[in-house]
Amino acid sequence: MNASFLHHAFDSSFPENLDPKSIAYLNGEFLALENAKVSALDRGFLFADGIYEVVPVYRRKPFLWSNHLRRLVRSLAAIQLPSPLRDEDWTELVRQMIEHQAFDDQFIYLQITRGSAKRDHAFPKKVRPTVFAMATEFKRPSQVDRENGLKAITVGDERWLRCDIKSVALLGNVLARQQAVDQDAHEAILIRGDVVTEGASSNIWLVVDDELLGHPKDNLALEGIRYSLIEELAISCGLRLSLRKRSPADLARASEVLLSSATKELLAITSINQKPVGQGRPGPVFHQLREAYDRAIDMECPKAELSEAGSSAG
Ligand code: PDD
Repeated sequence: MNASFLHHAFDSSFPENLDPKSIAYLNGEFLALENAKVSALDRGFLFADGIYEVVPVYRRKPFLWSNHLRRLVRSLAAIQLPSPLRDEDWTELVRQMIEHQAFDDQFIYLQITRGSAKRDHAFPKKVRPTVFAMATEFKRPSQVDRENGLKAITVGDERWLRCDIKSVALLGNVLARQQAVDQDAHEAILIRGDVVTEGASSNIWLVVDDELLGHPKDNLALEGIRYSLIEELAISCGLRLSLRKRSPADLARASEVLLSSATKELLAITSINQKPVGQGRPGPVFHQLREAYDRAIDMECPKAELSEAGSSAG
């Protein structure tokens, strides 16, 4: 297949008069989100044949963007879809979205599908992938969530065996998360056989015998962008961390359980199946890592410097 045909020409010009609260990008064009329409034959719609990314932005600066870009490229390769944009064009696309969007804290959602073609399971030939992006306001986790932690339930992990791909095929995650919501909880912790894999839309970390435990980097869970961050933060806090399979027994005796994701950042889980975790309050490991997480955001996405006019006025 001709790879150049698959490449989108990225035109970085930005139309005037777009509502900054509702900006999207579809197949080479910036447009209002409500005008972004894809074909009913899109393979994302018919087969969930696509991948996505969720990139948090603080103070108009993307957080850990190069890691998100690397994972995006990895997910595309895993589903054998040549990247329709070059790395520098992805970066420019995200930069443009951020610049023109209304909110300082936002999420950039990116989705790429194998494009629109006559319905057939096998890959279509010479079809241009669909590239979609949107920017939305990021309402960061509330102070109440940070202070009280979240409620979780445990649910059997009924997903496929390539959970390492950030695929838009999320029905297993959707059904698990809905079970949590139906039971007045925030997250479902997924258990496959004797292994605690991850949350329906987050990674799960346990504190057992003063050690932070994460699921290994394998096919049973998504390696969240917060994985390498938490590894770094744990070192900086002098915490021991190991990635190994955790059993439901580990979960039951964990003194703290934490959850991480782009949207929830890092929060404590303080009850599981209506039973308190540890003391039922966010614990010391959470507090240490949470402060380090905030510092990492401030480092990478610093507050704007006072302008000269602003500082002389003060
Ligand atoms: N989900 N595992 C699953 C199944 C997830 O859906 C997510 C995030 C994570 C954490 O990955 P990261 O640290 O890169 O956000 C782990 C995103 C936020 C979502 O689907 O909206």
